Amino acid sequence: MAHAASVHGASAASHTTSGPCHERVAVVAHRPIADRTWRIRVESPTLAAATLPGQFAMLRIPGRTDPLLARPLAVYDVFPGPDGRPRYVDFVYAVHGRFTTALAGLPPGEELAVWGPLGNGFDPPPVGHLVLVAGGIGQTALLAVARERSGLARYGSPARLRPRAERITFCWGGRTAAVFGDVADFEAAGCDVHLATLDGTAGVHGTVVDLLDSLAGAGKLGATDSLRVATCGPDAMMAAVARWTAAREIPCEASLETPMACGIGICFTCVAPIRDSDGGWDYRRTCVEGPVFDAASIVW
Ligand SMILES: Cc1cc2nc3c(=O)[nH]c(=O)nc-3n(C[C@H](O)[C@H](O)[C@H](O)COP(=O)(O)OP(=O)(O)OC[C@H]3O[C@@H](n4cnc5c(N)ncnc54)[C@H](O)[C@@H]3O)c2cc1C
Ligand code: FES
Repeated sequence: MAHAASVHGASAASHTTSGPCHERVAVVAHRPIADRTWRIRVESPTLAAATLPGQFAMLRIPGRTDPLLARPLAVYDVFPGPDGRPRYVDFVYAVHGRFTTALAGLPPGEELAVWGPLGNGFDPPPVGHLVLVAGGIGQTALLAVARERSGLARYGSPARLRPRAERITFCWGGRTAAVFGDVADFEAAGCDVHLATLDGTAGVHGTVVDLLDSLAGAGKLGATDSLRVATCGPDAMMAAVARWTAAREIPCEASLETPMACGIGICFTCVAPIRDSDGGWDYRRTCVEGPVFDAASIVW
């Protein structure tokens, strides 16, 4: 699946949507890209045109009641059709439980029920050096951020224009080298890519925070006042990244992977404790008020 240089040309503004769409879409490609990790492409011009970096969709396999509830997956990226307009949407997922196990057996030509785009996504203010920090399967929420902030792609309908970052660094931590799939996407997005593995089979031997320490120690991150971090991954990993950034007064946004049932703000299964400006905290719905929050506001 080759990357298009940009999904939005001048004609993109003619695509308009109002809120999330709910539709059945055809699977047009599906392949394994790493250990227990798959990449699936669906045809959905509506979702492709409307999605912003860091947003997600809820997915179900039609006709199945096990699992009954849809599952959230981040939109990995969107691609144009032959007419140059946004047409295809890619998701990347780790085989985990009942939904992702069933999904891995779905061949091209079958259908998926999809609703989205959902959530707020990443939209950091102008930044000199954007550092994207992924753990596990958390890279899925970050590729479009890199492509938008490197000026390679525009997203949304009408296509939004965001200032380019002077530098983008992508740090990815995983169990072992075999879990990293399609790393080249981040290189093609203009990122300086660095890996960390717990077993030492690729990159720095340790966690992604060990990797941040190593890059900072080697002077590869530059002045902290030009840095901004966007992170996605398991809670414990993001909490460690949040502590690392807070200790250096580096702004950080985190995308939570809280389990969700409806994805549209109705069921309250996805709440996370978020600090208020007055020093207290309250539960916020990750699906509509997130999944991206200021990392310093999350009660980890
Ligand atoms: C906004 C958002 C975006 C996401 N994007 C992606 C993505 O791009 N790719 C991807 O692979 N996954 C992503 N996830 C996570 C994915 O939705 C869950 O892993 C989902 O539960 C998998 O469904 P399943 O039926 O295969 O596993 P389940 O049967 O739901 O889960 C199996 C086991 O994992 C536990 N579990 C489920 N979800 C979580 C969680 N979030 N944290 C900790 N434990 C959990 C369950 O308690 C259970 O024990 C995202 C989640 C959110 C909220
Ligand atoms: S998943 Fe239902 S309110 Fe968020």
